[in-house]
Amino acid sequence: MNILGIETSCDETAAAIVRDGREVLANVVYTQIPLHQPYGGVVPEIASRAHIEKITEVVSAALRECQGPKGEDEEANSNLQAANHKPIDAVAVTYGPGLSPALIVGVNFAKGLAASLNVPLIAINHLEAHLHTPFLHLPDDGEGTRPEDFMPALGLVVSGGHTNWVDMPEYGKYETIGQTLDDAAGEAFDKAAKLLGLGYPGGPVIDRIAKEYLAAHPSLRDLIPFPKGRPRDGVSALAGLPAELCVSFSGLKTALLRYVQREGSGETERIVASYQEAIVQALAERTATALRRRPYKALVLGGGVSLNSRVRAVLSDVCRRAKIPLLMAKPKFCGDNGAMIAGLAYYRRNIMGDDAMRVDVSPSLEVG
Ligand code: KG4
Ligand code: ZN
Repeated sequence: MNILGIETSCDETAAAIVRDGREVLANVVYTQIPLHQPYGGVVPEIASRAHIEKITEVVSAALRECQGPKGEDEEANSNLQAANHKPIDAVAVTYGPGLSPALIVGVNFAKGLAASLNVPLIAINHLEAHLHTPFLHLPDDGEGTRPEDFMPALGLVVSGGHTNWVDMPEYGKYETIGQTLDDAAGEAFDKAAKLLGLGYPGGPVIDRIAKEYLAAHPSLRDLIPFPKGRPRDGVSALAGLPAELCVSFSGLKTALLRYVQREGSGETERIVASYQEAIVQALAERTATALRRRPYKALVLGGGVSLNSRVRAVLSDVCRRAKIPLLMAKPKFCGDNGAMIAGLAYYRRNIMGDDAMRVDVSPSLEVG
């Protein structure tokens, strides 16, 4: 079953075609980062306009990428663009969470395309889709990993908008058991980079600087002890979630600001490595705690921040100690993409039925 996935929740216009939930036949991502860079963050109206301008081109490019010899599907794939043909069995789209003016573009485009191809529409939760990314593989990678084999799993989504620990008792069932009370991990990286004048987005540049610093100064004891984001028990913002599974990064940002005001930003490399370490250790501590609370078969990691080399290394250690595998996506599937939407849609295809055609965007959609 070939599903076309469309993603426009933030600043990437993306489309992909995935076979049977896991094999990525085409994956096209147009990133708007250069458009938002002058503003130091994503501007919703600019994002929306750019999605409108690019979506037809991106979807057409994904359809074209899918052509060419592909064994028994050769004939079907060469006709992918024929509206009355069935190589695309369904169209999937992100309906939330995300920026409302950006989501609207993808949802409306997907509805129109599904109607014209006469195939079902599948509405997908962006956060749940990030948790599908470790199960995606390319046709020449062999078989890939089956999500069903790793349940129950602990999911961790770390992106620009979210930091969620998710209980996945079986594939397709999700419950948030911990989260950030304020800034997401990616947002914490982006805000620090802005404050230190390192540009946007902050994650990749902080990752690079910290990596160089830690290679030359491997002792973590020499880092500045920034707070590790542990919220107090009983705070109403916890909304019933256990404090030991939640983080708060707003204090970390304030601590950085105070430090720079007091000491100056002369030691940028050490500051950056220390700040990153506070985020990484906060993520690692909560993850280790969640893994002790229930017997999980795997940690499933997704979202743009999962590209961070130190996040990957430290969470690998956490999983090694818990004797479970850490399932991570290939780098090209960590940031926002259409493959994660099309991939998860295979498993969610029977959930909404015809109601998907009436679905509206849901900017604050939560996991589960
Ligand atoms: O998942 P994503 O592409 O979009 C959202 O759904 O938010 O994540 C984007 C976020 C940005 O905040 C970016 O700074 C962060 O992921 N990011 C990183 C790295 N690469 C991207 N954060 C830390 N280290 C990285 N290498
Ligand atoms: Zn995302």
